[in-house]
Amino acid sequence: MDRILVTGGTGYIGSHTVVELQQAGYPVVIIDNLSNSNRDVLDGIERITGIRPDFVEGDCTDIETLRKLFADYPGIKGIINFAASKAVGESMQKPILYYRNNLNTLMNLLDLMAPNDVKGIVFSSSCTVYGEPDENPVTEQSPIKKATSPYGNTKQISEEIITDVINAGAPFKSVILRYFNPVGAHPSAEIGELPNGVPQNLIPYLTQTAIGIRKELSVFGDDYDTPDGSCIRDYINVVDLAKAHVLAVKRMLEDKSEAKIEIFNLGTGNGVSVLELIDTFEEATGVKVPHKIVGRRAGDIEKVWANPTYANEVLGWKATSTLEDTMCSAWAWQCRLRERGIM
Ligand code: WQD
Repeated sequence: MDRILVTGGTGYIGSHTVVELQQAGYPVVIIDNLSNSNRDVLDGIERITGIRPDFVEGDCTDIETLRKLFADYPGIKGIINFAASKAVGESMQKPILYYRNNLNTLMNLLDLMAPNDVKGIVFSSSCTVYGEPDENPVTEQSPIKKATSPYGNTKQISEEIITDVINAGAPFKSVILRYFNPVGAHPSAEIGELPNGVPQNLIPYLTQTAIGIRKELSVFGDDYDTPDGSCIRDYINVVDLAKAHVLAVKRMLEDKSEAKIEIFNLGTGNGVSVLELIDTFEEATGVKVPHKIVGRRAGDIEKVWANPTYANEVLGWKATSTLEDTMCSAWAWQCRLRERGIM
């Protein structure tokens, strides 16, 4: 079976994708600089699948590190590129770090694909490319809006780099996956989201509040033009999301499409508000989440959710998890972290 390189594979979405790749029979090699994850994730993956993925601790912005990896692990036919800095707020403070890390990583990988006979790359993009959509749900044809953060801009520029390289005649394909909001954890509670420091994203902050690490969850605004005034997002279960990556790899390596570049929205198609999500968590788990309404967070999109029809029909992928089950998986993961004394 073709070997798959997963950059950023000890991260949140990366680790869940490695599990699904291994369970689909693909041998996996991970490269990760552990800047936002740790080696324990490898133990969690092995406990789930029984297979410890090959692992290289390294930085993808150093092309010599990547050159050595391809030499040490022959037969890599597909790449899934998760390695990137991804905090919207941090990117406003450190734009150079984001452009250097996210774009140099991608360009290094693209440079090494043809010499190593790699057939395709799956790129981890984001619904942030749509900015504040003119209408919801958004399709892959919805207009790309000017990015509101360096993080979002690196995703837009990365999509353009991939397009230009392939249109210039590169002998490989790409599938670009635009994620909506990934949430939840593997049902085994062996892996999950483990942000460093104070969580920026809603669900880890919510579960840390529910377990008592955080005193209260701040809801960033209830004066938006939405039914309950809080922002609306499309929350996609991380395991459902991971499964889409396996289908994308198969699609490229088995030449299932004439197109050299394909773009898919990965969402459920359901818009859910912050307050609705809190209610869903409380009802599904029976655990209360102390919360208060505060002012809006700068840069927040009011409402965005996906039309996933193209991914459903062409990629053959559909999100199947319920939001209730997804909230329970996030809570089980938070409880496991407590049991292990990690948090
Ligand atoms: C969701 C909603 C907040 C925290 C970002 C990136 C996106 C992706 C996911 C990487 C918003 C509200 C949040 C809190 C809150 N990142 N919120 N209190 O901003 O939609 O998307 O993360 O792939 O690319 O843009 O996600 O989880 O930060 O916020 O009220 O303590 O929850 O206002 O409406 P976001 P988020």
